Amino acid sequence: MILHNHFYFLMLLSMSNPLDIAPATGRLGVLTPGMGAVASTFIAGVIAARQGLTAPIGSVSQMAHIRLGNRDADRNPLIREFVPLAELDDLVFGGWDPISPNVLEAARTCGVLEDKDLAPVSAELEGIVTMDAVFDQRWVKKLEGTRVKAESNKWDQAQALIADIERFRIENECDRLVMVWCGSTEAYQEASAVHDNVEAFEAGLRDGDENISPSQIYVYAALMSDVPFANGAPNLSVDLPCMIELAARRGVPIAGKDFKTGQTLMKTLLAPGFKARMLGLRGWYSTNILGNRDGEVLDDPENFKTKEVSKLGVLDTILQPESYPDLYGNIDHVVRINYYPPRGDNKEGWDAIDIFGWMGYPMQIKVDFLCRDSILAAPIVLDLALFLDLAHRAGQSGVQEWLSFYLKAPQAATEAGPEHDLFIQQTKLKNTLREWMGEEPVTHSEVG
Ligand SMILES: NC(=O)c1ccc[n+]([C@@H]2O[C@H](COP(=O)([O-])OP(=O)(O)OC[C@H]3O[C@@H](n4cnc5c(N)ncnc54)[C@H](O)[C@@H]3O)[C@@H](O)[C@H]2O)c1
Repeated sequence: MILHNHFYFLMLLSMSNPLDIAPATGRLGVLTPGMGAVASTFIAGVIAARQGLTAPIGSVSQMAHIRLGNRDADRNPLIREFVPLAELDDLVFGGWDPISPNVLEAARTCGVLEDKDLAPVSAELEGIVTMDAVFDQRWVKKLEGTRVKAESNKWDQAQALIADIERFRIENECDRLVMVWCGSTEAYQEASAVHDNVEAFEAGLRDGDENISPSQIYVYAALMSDVPFANGAPNLSVDLPCMIELAARRGVPIAGKDFKTGQTLMKTLLAPGFKARMLGLRGWYSTNILGNRDGEVLDDPENFKTKEVSKLGVLDTILQPESYPDLYGNIDHVVRINYYPPRGDNKEGWDAIDIFGWMGYPMQIKVDFLCRDSILAAPIVLDLALFLDLAHRAGQSGVQEWLSFYLKAPQAATEAGPEHDLFIQQTKLKNTLREWMGEEPVTHSEVG
């Protein structure tokens, strides 16, 4: 008995204090600037799931279990039963697009889902009418926007978005909102003086500074409305000093950037495996064939450059060539995206991987992933929305590193930089949830 009490006391001592997390009562509005392939596939899937027509496959928040305590403790609840997440039934959808008039039209145009899957949800999708976008063709040359806000001054555009957000909140009786950028990838840019701090950015909005892109105006509007923001595309938006400052000031969580799907997902699965077994890498040639609107946008060199930078960073951070010069000090890493209309949204990602082993003998691996980009991205939108809302209710603000699991070029909260290894990211995500709920992190050591 004494022993038992002693054990119980030790267990209590080792449990951390849970965060005070407000309950997920009422409705959560999910706003997506950009209602194209990813956004429409995400919304259609959530509506189908709540009608019981499909399971939310690929969504960790909905389908994954989380182990608590020691392995023999037999505590393994679903994540959604362990942490207080918004229910799928409580989600309301809205967004902006310069082309798509409503989500049904967007889903039909991109052709990701078949008619038989759209039919049972089509009325609801048609009812989600897009708001006019803040859009500037200078940033996405390949698109002609017609459903665009009349305001030409950037400050006025930001105020118009803030008014849209407030109207949406009231009309849909939302208790809380989150925003996930599902818009096109904007042309490549580097941060400039206007992005240095909030004051400079606000002055730039008023003066119409040409370095401020539409996506940045959405971020500003979201943060000023206390709405958490995630960036699913690789362009600069929430990963700017002014936005990080604004998120801290308003106490709002943020996460960027670029949904980790397709070829990069494969890379972050394979590269940690090579490194775990100390196999060398000489080269990795990646090419993509895709024919959707995203592919068309990325056919422009300036937009492709934004994507290329986000895709190239992955290997170096996983393989740490500075620590392993013999294995990873000389890698040719090439990434290409080719627009090829016949494939539509069904991308083909080809990887030719040159590795080497014992005594330097070379070996080759070929991966030909016939993937469906939006099918892989949709559950990420759901998880980012639900987890950002959770973080907000848990009083968290600024960069949410634990969500790097979902992102190709994750934002880091410290100088140490991002973590790209999917399995470390998964551990970080689950341990963060455990800690927030007052459970011990799982270390996978011999005793744990
Ligand atoms: N599908 C994936 O697996 C995946 C992975 C990583 C990143 N992404 C990124 O997610 C984004 C969406 O991808 P998609 O396949 O849905 O592309 P898409 O072209 O089908 O949809 C993007 C939509 O954004 C709209 N848009 C462009 N500028 C806008 C603006 N200023 N305001 C509001 N809407 C705007 C376009 O009209 C279009 O309908 C792209 O940036 C893409 O690079 C997608």
